[in-house]
Amino acid sequence: MPESHSWAQIDLDALRHNFERARISAPGRRVCAVIKANAYGHGVHTVARALQPALHPNDLFAVATLNEALTLRRTASKEAILVLRGPLTVEELALLIQGGFHWVMHSRWQADLLKQWLKQFTSIKPPVLNIWLKINTGMNRLGLPADDLRDVWQWLQSLTLPGERVLMSHFATADEHEHVLANQQQAEFARLVKTLPHAEHCSRSLSASAGIVSWPQAHHDIVRPGIMLYGASPMADTDGSHYNLKPVMSLKSRLLTINHVKAGDTVGYGATYHCPQDTRIGVIGIGYGDGYPRHAPSGTPVLIFAQGQVWEAPLAGRVSMDMLTVDLSGIPANPGDEVLLWGQSWGHVLPADRIARYAGTIAYELFCQVTSRVRFTV
Ligand SMILES: Cc1ncc(COP(=O)(O)O)c(C=O)c1O
Repeated sequence: MPESHSWAQIDLDALRHNFERARISAPGRRVCAVIKANAYGHGVHTVARALQPALHPNDLFAVATLNEALTLRRTASKEAILVLRGPLTVEELALLIQGGFHWVMHSRWQADLLKQWLKQFTSIKPPVLNIWLKINTGMNRLGLPADDLRDVWQWLQSLTLPGERVLMSHFATADEHEHVLANQQQAEFARLVKTLPHAEHCSRSLSASAGIVSWPQAHHDIVRPGIMLYGASPMADTDGSHYNLKPVMSLKSRLLTINHVKAGDTVGYGATYHCPQDTRIGVIGIGYGDGYPRHAPSGTPVLIFAQGQVWEAPLAGRVSMDMLTVDLSGIPANPGDEVLLWGQSWGHVLPADRIARYAGTIAYELFCQVTSRVRFTV
């Protein structure tokens, strides 16, 4: 009897293929592979190990937090690691510098933390500061405002301490071709960088995945691909295959049982799905307790491998914690048959982007929400 757990297959060839797509799309640029949030739910150690041989000497990994960086260091002992949030306290700052991490300075108060730390610093050997100065160009999340930028930059320059300095910013709307803000942010980045004395010697970084595929003029020196590494589309309303990306995660489960529901009867919690005729309803062993989105409505597709063929079946009724239900009309499926919720299998692709659109979310969230009940296999 096949096991009834759900599982996620991680395709490392697809991951490496997508990494090369990022590199080829931004030729000659350094690549900073974003593997925060447990590599977007794919397993940070597995992903880091698979990408290590593809990194060039000046490439990096990026994570969001110090804890993520310390965890990643166990696998990536030699690669440079950028911590996107930077420090919150002087203790965190000390760990970032002592750990040899690159880190983002996004606020004036972080410059004050560094001043405080430098006052306590007693070693004869000067500390290495790998600082990515983040500039707010319109995202209004993390980033130095224009008023603080020049001061902080000049103070940093005056330190004459070893290490790399990078000027960076982040797009708010690069996933939408038509939005005016992406152009405005590029112009603002160029304008602000020009106001900084000696900034021409410094590397620049603006583009994440959407910038990589859609804004070549914004590639600068270092690109920061995240979602495209995992095969989903960085652009709204398209699938990853549009950019020749391959799904890395394939989420799978099995049919648990099949019910014969009479015309007019309903299926599942809230009785939201009314069978228009006598209907074979398949019950699949995955639900929101595994990370499948509860908001996926009736009609959201799954793929089923039955009788040697692949069939598409629509969800029928609400997703529950451990199960979901599909309309099996015309599909000769049996309990135990394999089901693909997103990813690729049997020569067919069911893009996570497509499921995300049904569920009113983005593939990023689908990947990150897969829970520990799901068994990961490589
Ligand atoms: C600063 C920064 N750079 C790069 C990325 C990667 O973005 P994406 O996954 O859209 O490629 C992120 C993701 O949130 C980010 O915050």
